[in-house]
Amino acid sequence: NYFTPVQQDFKNVKILITAGGTREPIDPVRYIGNRSSGKMGYAIAEAAAKRGAAVTLISGVTTLTASAGIKVIKVETAKEMQQHVEANFASNDVIVMAAAVADYAVAEVSEQKIKKASEKLSLELVKNPDILLGLGQKKQQNQLLIGFAAETQNLLKYAQDKLQRKNLDMIIANDVSKVNAGFNVDTNIVKIIGKNNLVEDIPLIKKTALASIILDKINKLKTH
Ligand code: CTP
Ligand code: CA
Repeated sequence: NYFTPVQQDFKNVKILITAGGTREPIDPVRYIGNRSSGKMGYAIAEAAAKRGAAVTLISGVTTLTASAGIKVIKVETAKEMQQHVEANFASNDVIVMAAAVADYAVAEVSEQKIKKASEKLSLELVKNPDILLGLGQKKQQNQLLIGFAAETQNLLKYAQDKLQRKNLDMIIANDVSKVNAGFNVDTNIVKIIGKNNLVEDIPLIKKTALASIILDKINKLKTH
């Protein structure tokens, strides 16, 4: 058996990756979650580590485990994710926000289990901080900021808007309404959009293969 060494083109690169979904508690036994599996973010983390990067993975909810050598910080809520991302932001060269961060949290988390008393129950939600937006405002010249956009319509327009608004260097837009794409599957169908709004269509691809393509693109950005 021959072992083909992987090119160490991320040697000396510090990369911060978020993955998986966040969970927002309702009461001691319930939460609001999403269908993110963490597969895309973990695939990027694994590929970057193989290529020589020092990887910090801020992981929301997932059943996945990362290889030894990847520094994993497990979080649950969007606010916890924000704290750890911000604490690690300045010391990293590349930041990839692949996590599915909850847009809203429950306004008042009940200390006791909510009983099924009334016929109707409303939950009041309050907007969570946009972690990536905050990073875009603090980004230094030598840092690269990569985001994802999960859309079910107007994919290109919405993703381009997020790229601009959040001051990103690249965004990977998923059409999550497609069966083999986005949440909780091994494959994805994406458009990769660069700063100059150059759009590349990536047809149905395994998330592991897409991770390599994303890293190739990051590599080009960091050497230019
Ligand atoms: N994101 C974030 N913090 C949030 C919400 C999203 O950092 N509170 C990041 C995601 O990790 C992703 C990017 O922002 O990299 C886009 O997330 P997405 O859910 O597609 O867009 P939103 O800006 O949340 O807008 P909307 O859900 O309304 O489309
Ligand atoms: Ca969102």
